[in-house]
Amino acid sequence: MKELDRNEALELASPFPYVLAVTLDERDRPNIIGLSWWMFTSWDPLMIAIAVGHQKYSHECLEHHKEFVLCFPSEGQEKDAWTCGVKSGRDMDKFQETEFRPVHSKCVKPPIIEGSTIAYECKIMKQVETGDHTVYIANVMATHGCPDRINHLYLVHYTKLISIGCAGEIKTDLIFKE
Ligand SMILES: Cc1cc2nc3c(=O)[nH]c(=O)nc-3n(C[C@H](O)[C@H](O)[C@H](O)COP(=O)(O)O)c2cc1C
Repeated sequence: MKELDRNEALELASPFPYVLAVTLDERDRPNIIGLSWWMFTSWDPLMIAIAVGHQKYSHECLEHHKEFVLCFPSEGQEKDAWTCGVKSGRDMDKFQETEFRPVHSKCVKPPIIEGSTIAYECKIMKQVETGDHTVYIANVMATHGCPDRINHLYLVHYTKLISIGCAGEIKTDLIFKE
C-alpha cells in the first residue's frame, strides 16, 4: 500500500456510473446536469441521493422545484451527456442545443431523457448541506428503462467516459479528455 493524493485515488477508484439529473428552472424550463456523486440510500422505500454544487444552475433549479429525474445515459448519448457535465444551463438550453429529447414523466414535472437506459423519477424529501455541495435525498416515484439499450456510461477520473452494460460488454474511450 502507498499513500495517494486525491487525483490518484479518483483514478484508481474508477469507474463510477455517470448519470444526468433533469430539473426545472423557475420558468419551468428543463435543465440537465451531469453527476457522478449519487447513491441509493434506502431499498424500501427506494430512495436516491445526489450531491449538487452550490454554484450550479441545477442547485437553483432544485431550490425552486423539489423534483428531479435521474437518467442513466446510454451508449451513443456520450457526446451530449458530456456537454451536460461541462456547460451550464445559465448559458444554454440543454434540450434545445443537444440531441436529447424530453419525454413526459408519470409522477413528477421534470421530463425523462428519451433513450436512457434507466430513468428514476424522484421527489425530494430532505436535504443536507455538506461543504460546497447540497445532498438532496429523494423518494423514487416511478422507474422507466430501455432494456434494448443496456450499455450505459461510466466515468474514469474526470477524463474519460466508457460504457459497460449488465451483460458485461465494455467499450472504452467513448469520450477522452487530456
Ligand atoms: C464527469 C462529471 C461528473 C460530475 N459530477 C458532478 C456532481 O456529482 N455534482 C455536481 O454538482 N457537479 C458535477 N459535475 C459538474 C456539473 O455537471 C457541471 O458543472 C455542469 O456544467 C453544471 O450544469 P448546470 O450549471 O446547468 O447545473 C460533473 C461533471 C462531470 C464532467
